[in-house]
Amino acid sequence: MKIFQAAGILTALVVLLANSRLENNAAVVPDPPPGTTYLEPSPQRSGDAGAGYQYLLYGDFVSSGIPLRVFKRASGGNSPDDLGRTGDAAGIPFRFNVITTANGVKVVAPTCLTCHAEKLNGQLIVGLGSNTMDHTRDAAANFKAADLGVKMMFGENSPEWAAYYPASRATKTMGPYIRTETRGPNPADKIFAVLAAHRSAADFAWIDEAQFNIPAETVPTDVPAWWLMKKKNALYYNGLGRGDFGRLASASGMLTMLDSAEARRIDSRMPDLMAWIRTIEPPKYPYPIDGELAAAGKKIFEKTCYKCHGTYGDSVSYPNLLVSLEKAGTDPLLSNAYKTHPEYHTWYNNSWYGQGANKGQMLPNDGYVAPPLDGVWATAPYLHNASVPTLEDLLNSTQRPVYWKRVFENTEANYDQVKGGWKYTVEPAKTDVETYDTTLPGYGNGGHKFGDRLTAEERKAVVEYLKTL
Ligand code: HEC
Ligand code: HEC
Repeated sequence: MKIFQAAGILTALVVLLANSRLENNAAVVPDPPPGTTYLEPSPQRSGDAGAGYQYLLYGDFVSSGIPLRVFKRASGGNSPDDLGRTGDAAGIPFRFNVITTANGVKVVAPTCLTCHAEKLNGQLIVGLGSNTMDHTRDAAANFKAADLGVKMMFGENSPEWAAYYPASRATKTMGPYIRTETRGPNPADKIFAVLAAHRSAADFAWIDEAQFNIPAETVPTDVPAWWLMKKKNALYYNGLGRGDFGRLASASGMLTMLDSAEARRIDSRMPDLMAWIRTIEPPKYPYPIDGELAAAGKKIFEKTCYKCHGTYGDSVSYPNLLVSLEKAGTDPLLSNAYKTHPEYHTWYNNSWYGQGANKGQMLPNDGYVAPPLDGVWATAPYLHNASVPTLEDLLNSTQRPVYWKRVFENTEANYDQVKGGWKYTVEPAKTDVETYDTTLPGYGNGGHKFGDRLTAEERKAVVEYLKTL
């Protein structure tokens, strides 16, 4: 206990020092402009980045899954080796780890990289948010089929069934609630809500009957790039996540954890993973850049945009601002969801996650964080709900497509080097799950009109500059 407290004080000191350094650098950034609020930092635990990466690739932060034998029989177990893993995990898709459960069974369990890794020009980029996954279907059906397979192979009284059941139970429970309307965006906020409704805040035990009314809407979100985290004082699009980031991220354990001892065990490894995430750098823009145009764009950016998004290059600063809904003007559903349904963040704050040393806190805000823009070329589509396909469209609200469709393959051929983002076609209406319909609640593409007043030439220059970040 003492050691933890001492470590806590040390971390607080390190954070204080780091911040005073940031403030010096941030001397160019003035007071928060009207309609914005500064998000204060919280002390963070420190960790070992190398150990964190190992935990990400081999760890059991999700502690239940499909028995390895069943998985191999169904899939062949020889996927492309995107992560260069060894042992049982070699040949298993990057979205899964092979772990040994508490009762000694090897299972294939989903990981952070289901959502926090994506292909770019044929290479897997760990930390780039997934933007091609299809969450429009109810995953419960797959698990109903897998239930039969596991029962047939091992029987219902087997250790294999016990090792598999928590993953099946959670996925079947969430399935119908977490469907998005469009391929691409992610339902993570709703996953948290459904799991909170089915877990006791007192001891994290699973509760079959939902204890809160689960909202009908599924808020769609783009998955934020992990390399931005090191600059942030608060996590999540609405700045909801305060306190210790590792504690916040450890909530992924809610999917399958057996008890609160497991929650503590996962949490104790998260500082290492957070330390590794802080080492990630964004991928560099791989195509030609017009240096003169980008330099002109930098000048405009440092007049029109830097107050919210900070400065880059030789003088790095990031102001950590929350921008009110009124000022940002982007789709309100995500920001409002935590106000309309306070039971979820209240559950979190009342549970062990939100208590004691290194606690995480979910404190809802009105509005959205103006994010750092490092590597922004690679993170299309844009805004928290992935509603705007390119940078040029983001900087001209009158030009944004109402219905649009892209090819879900992040290749050079599909990248629009002029507009900065994925090539798309404008559609007359939503005809399938691959058409993004910005008229749906939560999917709106309005707001962020901060580039509207630029001339076409100035906008082109800013887009060119953004490619260099
Ligand atoms: C089902 C998809 C999914 C999985 C699995 C997932 N995440 Fe996330 N993660 C998201 C989404 C979506 C957000 C943004 C949510 C928001 O801001 O409302 C997010 C946000 C975050 C953030 C905050 C980023 C920021 O800049 O604000 C961190 C850190 C994070 N996740 C870490 C993790 C870790 C570590 C794991 C594994 C233990 C994990 N996530 C598993 C989808 C996922
Ligand atoms: C008043 C503050 C403010 C100003 C000024 C501002 N932005 Fe933003 N910007 C935001 C906020 C807030 C968001 C996130 C909104 C959301 O996701 O709903 C954002 C999002 C973005 C994004 C999308 C990031 C992503 O990954 O989805 C880009 C790119 C961007 N801004 C560029 C610019 C540029 C270029 C300018 C100057 C022309 C600018 N912004 C001016 C507040 C601002």
